[in-house]
Amino acid sequence: MSNAIKAVVFDLDGVITDTAEFHYQAWQRLADEEGIPFTRADNEFLRGVSRSESLQLLLQGRPVDDVTRQAMMDRKNAYFQGLLERLTPRDLLPGVADLFDLLDRANVRFGIASASRNARTAVEKLGIDGRLAVLVDGHSVARQKPAPDLFRHAAARLGVLPGECLVVEDAAAGIEAAIRAGMPCLALGPAERFAEIERRYGPVWRRDDLSGIELHDIEAAAQPASTWWVTQEGWQAEHQHHMETIFTTGNGYFCSRGSLEEGYPGDHALTLAHGIFDDIPIAITELANLPNWLDLMITVDGQLFRLDQGTCLHFSRGLDLRHGLLRRQVRWQAPDGTVLDVTFERFASYTREHIGAMRVMLTAVNRACHVTVETGIDGHVSNEDLLHWHHLAQGQHGESGLWLLSQTRHSELDLATAAMVSTPGQSPVQYRQCPGQPRLIVAQELDVAQTLQVDKLVCYTASRDPVEQAANVVERALAELAGRDYDTLRAEQVGAWESLWDDCDIEIEGDDEAQLAVRFNLFQLIIAAPQHDDRVSMGAKTLSGLGYRGHVFWDTEIFILPFFTFTLPHLARNMLMYRYHTLEGARRKAAGNGFNGAQYAWESAATGDEVTPAWVPDHNGKELVRIWTGDIEIHISADVAYAIMQYWQVTGDDGFMRDYGAEIILDTARFWADRAEREEVDGRHRYSFRDVIGPDEYHDHVDNNIYTNRMAQWHLQTALELLTWLDGLYPAHARALRDKLELDDACLQHWRDVIDHIVIHHDPATGLLLQFEGFFDLKRIDPAVIAQTERSMQVVLGIEGANASQVIKQADVIMLLCLLRDQYDARTWQTNWDTYMPITDHRYGSSLGPSFHAWAACEIDRADDGYEHFMLAARADLHDVRGNADDGIHGASAGGLWQAVVFGFAGLRLTDDGITVQPRLPSHWRHLSFRIRYRGGLVRVDIAQGGAVQITG
Ligand code: BGC
Repeated sequence: MSNAIKAVVFDLDGVITDTAEFHYQAWQRLADEEGIPFTRADNEFLRGVSRSESLQLLLQGRPVDDVTRQAMMDRKNAYFQGLLERLTPRDLLPGVADLFDLLDRANVRFGIASASRNARTAVEKLGIDGRLAVLVDGHSVARQKPAPDLFRHAAARLGVLPGECLVVEDAAAGIEAAIRAGMPCLALGPAERFAEIERRYGPVWRRDDLSGIELHDIEAAAQPASTWWVTQEGWQAEHQHHMETIFTTGNGYFCSRGSLEEGYPGDHALTLAHGIFDDIPIAITELANLPNWLDLMITVDGQLFRLDQGTCLHFSRGLDLRHGLLRRQVRWQAPDGTVLDVTFERFASYTREHIGAMRVMLTAVNRACHVTVETGIDGHVSNEDLLHWHHLAQGQHGESGLWLLSQTRHSELDLATAAMVSTPGQSPVQYRQCPGQPRLIVAQELDVAQTLQVDKLVCYTASRDPVEQAANVVERALAELAGRDYDTLRAEQVGAWESLWDDCDIEIEGDDEAQLAVRFNLFQLIIAAPQHDDRVSMGAKTLSGLGYRGHVFWDTEIFILPFFTFTLPHLARNMLMYRYHTLEGARRKAAGNGFNGAQYAWESAATGDEVTPAWVPDHNGKELVRIWTGDIEIHISADVAYAIMQYWQVTGDDGFMRDYGAEIILDTARFWADRAEREEVDGRHRYSFRDVIGPDEYHDHVDNNIYTNRMAQWHLQTALELLTWLDGLYPAHARALRDKLELDDACLQHWRDVIDHIVIHHDPATGLLLQFEGFFDLKRIDPAVIAQTERSMQVVLGIEGANASQVIKQADVIMLLCLLRDQYDARTWQTNWDTYMPITDHRYGSSLGPSFHAWAACEIDRADDGYEHFMLAARADLHDVRGNADDGIHGASAGGLWQAVVFGFAGLRLTDDGITVQPRLPSHWRHLSFRIRYRGGLVRVDIAQGGAVQITG
C-alpha cells in the first residue's frame, strides 16, 4: 500500500484561507438578527457541514417552514459573499504560498475540493486560480463530505490513484471523507477537533497549520506505518496462494483467506469457521469451506473486471494489523481502454463475530461507462474438490437482503449465510436467484470521476452456535444484520482492535522487521482464537488454510496458548475448556487402547476422538505412507496438563481448576500410570514408555523418549499435588473426583511408584539427556550436510533413512529443557545444546523448532544466536520459508515467537514472589516492552538495551 504522493487536494475554507471565519461571521449575523443564541464554540459543529445542515444545527429544533428556511440560507450566503469580496492574495493562510511553490518544484499537481459553492470566487480573489490543476466544488458530486465522493472525484480529475493523493482538511467531516475515500490525509487544527475521528478511524497526521511543511512529511503520510501494515505491491499470480494465507482476516468465529473478492483463476479462496467439521475420506473429518461471502463480479461496459483480463495498471494491498482491516487499491484498464479505480476494504467484525463487512468503490477514470456489481453468497464451494454442502433453501429479504440455508453433507450442521447490500444514496438493487448462489445486482452509469460505492454485510450463523434458544438459523442471521451499517461496524472494529493491542502488544525498538513480524504473527493467532465458544480450539494452521484439516494438536497447548494465557486469558480458557468438553473422546481413546483414564488424541476435532489419518500420500503424492503419530505420539496428554497448570498459575482461576482442570489432569494421570510398563532389571523394577514417538517425529517406535517420560513424570507429580490442593480447599469436589476416577490409595501409591522409577536417562557426569534409547547408536550424519540441506532431511534420507540416523526434526530434548527450565542446571543446558543443535534440521524439519531454539539460546546467554532462530520463525509465513505457506499459517511458530521474546529475550518467569525478568536482548534491539495480565492485573514490562528494567502495574 505504499504510494508516492503524486497530487494534493486542499479543502478551501480554513485550509487555504480563512473563509471559515467569514462563514462564522455570516452565521453569527443571521443568528443575531433572528435572536438565536450562537457562539464561536457552536460554530465548531458547522465546520465542513453543508449550508442546509448548518442551518439545521443553528436552528436547534426551532420550527421553520421551507420558504423561510431557504430565505435564511440565501441571507447567510449573501452576507458571506459580501465578506468574500474583501478577500485578497494576502489572505492566504500561513504556509500555503510556500507549499504551493514546493509542490510546483516537485511536480506534484494540486487542486481544491471544497463543499462551498463559492469556491471559484474565493480562488479568483486569492489570485491562485491559475495555479490549480483542478477545482471541484459542491456542484461536482451528489453526496457531500463525509461521503468519499468529492475527494475521489478530485483524485480522478487529477489523474492519480486515490492512494497517491493527499487530502488537506481542517474539518472532521473532511478527514472522514478522505479516510473513507482511501486517501492519505493531513488534518489541520486542534487535536480535540479530530478526537472523535481518531476514535473511529485510528490516528491521523495532524498539524496546526501548513507552515514549514517539507516534501518528506508529505511522502511519509502516504506510507502506512511499516510496523503495523503487511503490504504487497503489484500483482503476481504465482504468489497468490502464499498471499492468500498472509492476508487472512478473521474474528475468532470465522476467518477468510486473502483471496481477491472478484476471484482469480486457480485461487484457493476459503472461509473456515470453528467447529463446522464434515467427514472426509482418509483424514476422517475436516473444516468445511463455508459459502463464500466475498462473492463479487464487476463488469465495465460488459467487460469482466478480473486481473487476468484487461490490464492491471496498479495493484497494492495492505493488512492493517492495528485495526483488523484489509485494503486493496487497483487501477484497471478494460480491454476497450476504459480505466477504473477500484478500492476494496473488508474485515471480519471482532465485535459482531458472525458478521463480515466489505466496501467496494469504483471510480471511472478516463471516460464515462456503465458498471455493474453483482454480489451475494456463493454456495458452490468445495474443499479442494470435495463438496461438503447441500443447499436447502434460499431467499430474498427486503429490498436488498438475501440468504442461503445450507447443511453439511455428513455431520448435518445447518449454516445460514445472509447478506445485505447497500449503495448509499445511489442505485437501486436488483435480486438474482441463481440456485445455491443468490445475488444482488447494482448497475450504474458512471461519469468521469464519479464513484459508485457498494457496501456489503454478511452474517453466518450455525446450528452448533452456543445460543440460548435454538432459533431458526436464517432468522438469527437476518436479525443480526438488521439496522447495521458498514461505518458503524468499522468504527467498532477499530476500537476493538486498538484495545486488543493495548492488552497484548509487544514493542521492539531497533528492529522494524521483527516488530512487524511479531505483530503479524500475534494478529494471526488472535483472529483464530474463539471468543465465545469453549467447545472449539485452534487448529495447527489456525483457520487460514486446509493444512491438517483444522485438526488440533499439541501446537495449541504448548506453542500457542502461553501467549493467550499471559495476555488474553479468557481466550486461553475457551481453548482449555475445549479439552474438558472433549474429555469423553480422550477416555474413549484410552479405553480403545486398553488403558485407564483419558488419553488425548494426537489430532483432535469436534469430539476429541482420534482423527489422525493412518495413511497419507508421501511428498510426491505417489505412495501412501503409514502415519504412526495417532497411535503412539502420546506426550500430548502431558502437554494439555502443562498448559492448564500454566493458565492456573498465571490467572489464579481456581474455579476453572476446581471444576474442569483438575478432572483433566487427574484422569490423564491415570492414563500415564497405566500406560507405564513395569520392568524388572537386575532384581529392581522400573517403568518405561516403549514404542512411542517423541516431538522429534523423524524417529518412530522409540523407547523411553526423554521428553515423554519426563513430562509424564512431571504430570503425575503435578496430579498428586493438585489432589492435595483440592482436598484442602474443596474437599467435596475432591471426594467426588476420587469416586468418579477411582483414585483410591492403591492407585495413588502406584503413581508415586511410577514417578520414582520411571526411566530418565540423564547422565550425571555430563548432563546429557538421552533423547531415546539407542539414539547415539544410529548413523551419524555430518552436521554440515544438515546445515546446508535445501530439503527436509526426511526427504533427503527417506523415511527409513531418517529413522536410522542421528538427525532431528525438531526440538525434543531442547523442548523439555525449556518447559522445565528451572529444573536443569547450566551444564545440562550447555551439553544438550551442544549435542542436539548441530544435528537438528532447522530449516526444513519442523516450523515448531526455531522459536524454542531462540528461547533456549537465551538460556545459555547466546541471544544473538537466538535471534537467528527467532527470525526463522518470524519469517516462516511472511517469507514462506518452507514453501508451504499456502496450507495456512504455522500457528505453533507464531505462538512460539511470543515465547521467544517473553521467556527468551526478556527472560520472564513467574516465581513465588511474582514476576521477574532476566533480559538478554539481541544486541541491536534498543528497547523491548510488552504487557501481560497476571492474576487479573495488567503489567507492563520495559527493558532497555543494557539491562535497565521497569515493571509497572
Ligand atoms: C510436527 C508436530 C506438529 C504437527 C502440526 C508436525 O510436522 O512434527 O510436532 O504437531 O506438525 O503442526
